[in-house]
Amino acid sequence: MAETPLKICLATSEYTPLAKTGGLADVTAALSEHLDAQGHDVRVMLPFYSSIDTTDLEIHPVEFMQDLTMECGPHKIRWSVDSARLKGKALRIYLLRCPSLYDRPGIYTSGADEHIRFLFLTRAAIEMCQHMGFAPDVFHCHDWHTAMAPIYLKTLYAWDKLFANTKTVLTIHNIGYQGIFNAEVLADTGLSANADLFHQEDMALGRLSFLKTGVLYADALTTVSPTYAREILEPEMGMGLQDLLRQRKESLVGILNGVDYGEWNPETDTLIPHHYSASKLAGKKKNKKALMEELGLAYADDLPLLGMVTRLTYQKGIELVQKVVPELLQKRPFAMAVLGSGESRYEHFFTWLQGQFPGRVCFYRGYNNRLAHWIEAAADIFVMPSRFEPCGLNQMYSLRYGTVPIVRNTGGLADSVQLFEPSSGKGTGIVFNNFNAQGFSWAVNTALDLYQDQKAWKKMIRNGMAMDYSWERQGAVYVELFRRLTRAQA
Ligand code: ADP
Ligand code: GLC
Repeated sequence: MAETPLKICLATSEYTPLAKTGGLADVTAALSEHLDAQGHDVRVMLPFYSSIDTTDLEIHPVEFMQDLTMECGPHKIRWSVDSARLKGKALRIYLLRCPSLYDRPGIYTSGADEHIRFLFLTRAAIEMCQHMGFAPDVFHCHDWHTAMAPIYLKTLYAWDKLFANTKTVLTIHNIGYQGIFNAEVLADTGLSANADLFHQEDMALGRLSFLKTGVLYADALTTVSPTYAREILEPEMGMGLQDLLRQRKESLVGILNGVDYGEWNPETDTLIPHHYSASKLAGKKKNKKALMEELGLAYADDLPLLGMVTRLTYQKGIELVQKVVPELLQKRPFAMAVLGSGESRYEHFFTWLQGQFPGRVCFYRGYNNRLAHWIEAAADIFVMPSRFEPCGLNQMYSLRYGTVPIVRNTGGLADSVQLFEPSSGKGTGIVFNNFNAQGFSWAVNTALDLYQDQKAWKKMIRNGMAMDYSWERQGAVYVELFRRLTRAQA
């Protein structure tokens, strides 16, 4: 007999394409859509940020969830829920309408009520289940923003039999963001009576960490690649959570992210000018020529184009680019297209680099989905020298687009790219080990050298294009975990 479909509630701060700053959005959307397509009952809740583009959204207020009130400690918050479906997508998701909290210019803020914005999201997702009479088998939390769900289900909502069999899963996409607040926010959590359940050393130091609380109480912990699951047990990458994670090692598993090949496929991508495939690569060159012209870069048939699409943060290893690329641009012929935004020190660097090498470097500062796809399709080489990388999606997009990734041997980069060996013809990219200029310089030079040998190059890109990181594979690993958890309680 086929197993019964799972009931899953997923609460998230990001969801592609409605609210995205990085890969978290791609993963929550693609995973939910995949689980829905597999016949599971998935209820997703996302804040109705005022920045959400509603053009392609069919939105309906959910009648029985209008003008509700929730008390978050001393705050009375009014809220409503809309259901929304994106053009071309099957899954309806739920948007949490609360202008007083989500009517802000960006998804995240540095406001004094940031903790309330996401505590409230977490509790509203739980209360949405109550209003719907939906008893989730699994409540799936993502990053610090919704990591408080497990403690809530064990305290404030423990009375409700609806959740008697609910298991909580916390997926850590990035341990670098933990949601650490002053312990005074305890009052706003509504859990003052349960202060003893929070990490006591933290409380003594006057702080309260949402992610740590999730790590303490979630039934299962996942992170987004097997290598990162090992790395965060060590002080270098655990960012203070390593000891706690070691204690919960049996409950922690690394599941590599999948790729939504419906969105990221050079044969069908509607955001690129020319389609192509592993057997018909001509379109790739046309994309490169068109992009370089568009960006004001001097095109030559045999000039390698390096691409980068990234949040400009410490994690992404921009220091290596700073140390290596300016000198290399003086020595070797190549061009570079960079799309990103973030910390001003990095934005200034790329602006400077563009000024130093006109016609060879283009820096597009900002967020631009179309350009992100186009760079993947046009570049010969994709640069991702991350200091740490829980999973990383761009290197997997690169593989599918026939763009050779240069990655550091860390996290999901290590799990998804294999060093190309010219002698055996095996491998999909260039992988370097140590986070230093020497390692990165070796990697870029190796890629540029290999580019000269077009036979080996084509072999490498075809190896990459044949890799399968689909959600069909990766989603099945989540389902297996969810099943194991629900069986454990039967
Ligand atoms: P992270 O989540 O750490 O930012 P990932 O590689 O997992 O890294 O995911 C990044 C996602 O965000 C990819 O889909 C990438 O294309 C997208 N992205 C990053 N920066 C930009 C940008 N400036 N414009 C458009 N898309 C971007
Ligand atoms: C985080 C990580 C990235 C990962 C993404 C989705 O933002 O930095 O490596 O791919 O989440 O899980």
